[in-house]
Amino acid sequence: MIGYGICGSFCTHERSLKTLEELVEKYDVQPIATPCVVSSDTRFGKASEFIGKVERVTGHKIIETVKDAEPLGPAKPLEALVICPCTGNTLAKLALGITDTAVTMAAKAHLRSGGRLIIALATNDAMSSNLQNIALMLNKKNVFFVPMRQDDPILKPHSLVADFALVEKCLEYALDSLQVRPLFL
Ligand SMILES: Cc1cc2nc3c(=O)[nH]c(=O)nc-3n(C[C@H](O)[C@H](O)[C@H](O)COP(=O)(O)O)c2cc1C
Repeated sequence: MIGYGICGSFCTHERSLKTLEELVEKYDVQPIATPCVVSSDTRFGKASEFIGKVERVTGHKIIETVKDAEPLGPAKPLEALVICPCTGNTLAKLALGITDTAVTMAAKAHLRSGGRLIIALATNDAMSSNLQNIALMLNKKNVFFVPMRQDDPILKPHSLVADFALVEKCLEYALDSLQVRPLFL
């Protein structure tokens, strides 16, 4: 089983759902979401509708709490954990060892057991306050990034967004301990 963590980059949820639809053709996928995703209705849609779609696509209830994510290590190991999208907020927590959401708990439990973590980043502050956290994560064992690009260098000069079409390839590479390159598209 693959874990699929979803964070509050709401503008990328539609694309994340498409990626999820591709993954379920090959893998049994357990969705995991942050409280922000579960509780926020935004201009991009209602939380309950998004959650309904994710649960229908995967056939599994979303893991929403730290308690329910904690077994996703030694007790209930995942083959790999993908976080798509990963916000700047969650990246910073992962880099600094903060574990207060289902997604950060799943990542902690999974990495502790030697599992591979694949991060598909989508954040406006990737090349400002979160650049140091990208560097910290690049230096961690078993952590892989989905290649990313500056999605709008003029209007959002610090933004990087992963190419979600590469998630499945990155997952396959990560299972062989390989990083897909180039990292920056
Ligand atoms: C409409 C909307 C869109 C957002 N888009 C992003 C985004 O693309 N990337 C990001 O890092 N944060 C984005 N945020 C901010 C995060 O949702 C916020 O940092 C939140 O605390 C993230 O929580 P999480 O990392 O636990 O999911 C957005 C917020 C809103 C309301």
